[in-house]
Amino acid sequence: MSEMIKTNDSFSSNRRTFIKKTTGAVTVTSALAGVTIPRVHASMDDFTKVALVGAGGRGTGAASNALSVPEDIARTKLVSMADVSTAKMENSFRALKRRGKDRVDVPEDRRYIGFDGYAKAMDNLDAGDVVIFTTPCAFRWVHYKKAIERGLNVFMEKPVCPDGITAKRMLALNEEAKKKNLKVGVGLMCRHSRARGELFNRIKDGELGDINLLRAYRLHGPVASCFSLPPKENESELLYQIRRFHSFIWASGGSFSDYFIHNIDECCWMKDDWPVKAQGAGGRHYREAPSGQDYVDQNLDSYTVEYTFKDGAKLYMHGRTMNGCHGEFASYAHGSKGLGIISQAGHAPAPCKIFKGQSFKDPVAWAYPGRESNPYQDEWNDLMTAIRDNKPFNECESGVQASVVTAMGRFASHTGQEVTYDQVLNHDHDLCPDAEKLTMESDAPLKTNPDGKYPVPAPGIIKDREYLQITGNNA
Ligand SMILES: NC(=O)c1ccc[n+]([C@@H]2O[C@H](COP(=O)([O-])OP(=O)(O)OC[C@H]3O[C@@H](n4cnc5c(N)ncnc54)[C@H](O)[C@@H]3O)[C@@H](O)[C@H]2O)c1
Repeated sequence: MSEMIKTNDSFSSNRRTFIKKTTGAVTVTSALAGVTIPRVHASMDDFTKVALVGAGGRGTGAASNALSVPEDIARTKLVSMADVSTAKMENSFRALKRRGKDRVDVPEDRRYIGFDGYAKAMDNLDAGDVVIFTTPCAFRWVHYKKAIERGLNVFMEKPVCPDGITAKRMLALNEEAKKKNLKVGVGLMCRHSRARGELFNRIKDGELGDINLLRAYRLHGPVASCFSLPPKENESELLYQIRRFHSFIWASGGSFSDYFIHNIDECCWMKDDWPVKAQGAGGRHYREAPSGQDYVDQNLDSYTVEYTFKDGAKLYMHGRTMNGCHGEFASYAHGSKGLGIISQAGHAPAPCKIFKGQSFKDPVAWAYPGRESNPYQDEWNDLMTAIRDNKPFNECESGVQASVVTAMGRFASHTGQEVTYDQVLNHDHDLCPDAEKLTMESDAPLKTNPDGKYPVPAPGIIKDREYLQITGNNA
């Protein structure tokens, strides 16, 4: 089969129909063989179908971004949704319907509940359409496998894997995605921030000199599900751990991976490299909830990690989820010629700046003019532009690298050991061996130990893995 026919196969059904109707498949094949085919918009009826897998907060946001891509880039329509929670699904559907109106065409029989819903949602798409993965990251590889089989373009949220085993699985799957020329966006949206992009270009042009120190801070009170009380009476333990996914390392990489990955990734982007090793410290100062009950999650509430790049440069990541303490949510790069603000006060807008010395009091050499656009929307516009123009766009590998680097800092803090990138990538601790086989009736991947508590890190005592499961899969 010619390359041309393969490329045509990745068009959405309406695009295929249009090309056949207007030019004839044979003419297109012979006229365009061997050239890059721009994904032009055929007619006003032409649209890219979108499926949403994981209809929670970010899923609703990502689907909304998908529907808000400017029409000269792509016309999108949400056609199917999947979740394991009926309540989350219905909330998301209602919110999207309000915003998207006729662009949300998801009747009840295309809203799938259950662990197998992802496959059914994707079966409503044609090759070349787009699927969104916004479940906790434990399921990313399972869903990615199906998308590749179906020839679908993908938007997947960060982190893309919680551990080395799934990192390698994602990298292997991604080789198949690349062969099929699939476009893959990862929700590290700061990489699409226009202000950070200009700062990066200036760093590459030497305006900061050699980058020898990066500092990142994510210091705020408890957010999302980082601390958890035990499941409700009669609640499925599996669905409880999924609902409280920031609390459980198998599901999300814990609060460390879920929260800190953005700052770690944007620092590595500015350094234009990934660290080779890390050492870290962390502790859990408070376990008692305001109700007097003890929290049972696996997270520490404070972390400090020193990452080392191969040229000896350092990245320090400071993270804390504790009320009443100094708050900061920012990343900075120090070079031999000055200091750069990568981000300050959250993800967006990024007030990127370069100072002529190492202090914020030094004269400003450059500042991003004005207020930048929303990087969550920009990442979608960039993905859909790449699909339209059939240009290379695959962020999976860098998403895996960012996830492994983040897991490296987490592992170092949880074990109290210095650890290398390769050790984390090749570690044998499979945090969720049966992700592909889970059903609504399955046991939870993490069990309580004989003391009735979920296993937690014990730095300096448990040195070769982040926690010890005495019963269950990892015993
Ligand atoms: N890029 C960002 O700034 C950003 C912001 C928020 C969240 N996120 C990421 O998005 C993901 C989801 O986070 P969220 O805040 O939306 O959480 P959420 O709990 O609101 O949404 C997750 C949804 O996935 C569903 N789900 C879980 N497992 C499933 C499965 N196997 N099949 C189908 N549905 C399943 C849950 O029921 C839930 O509705 C996480 O990976 C998170 O890190 C990214």
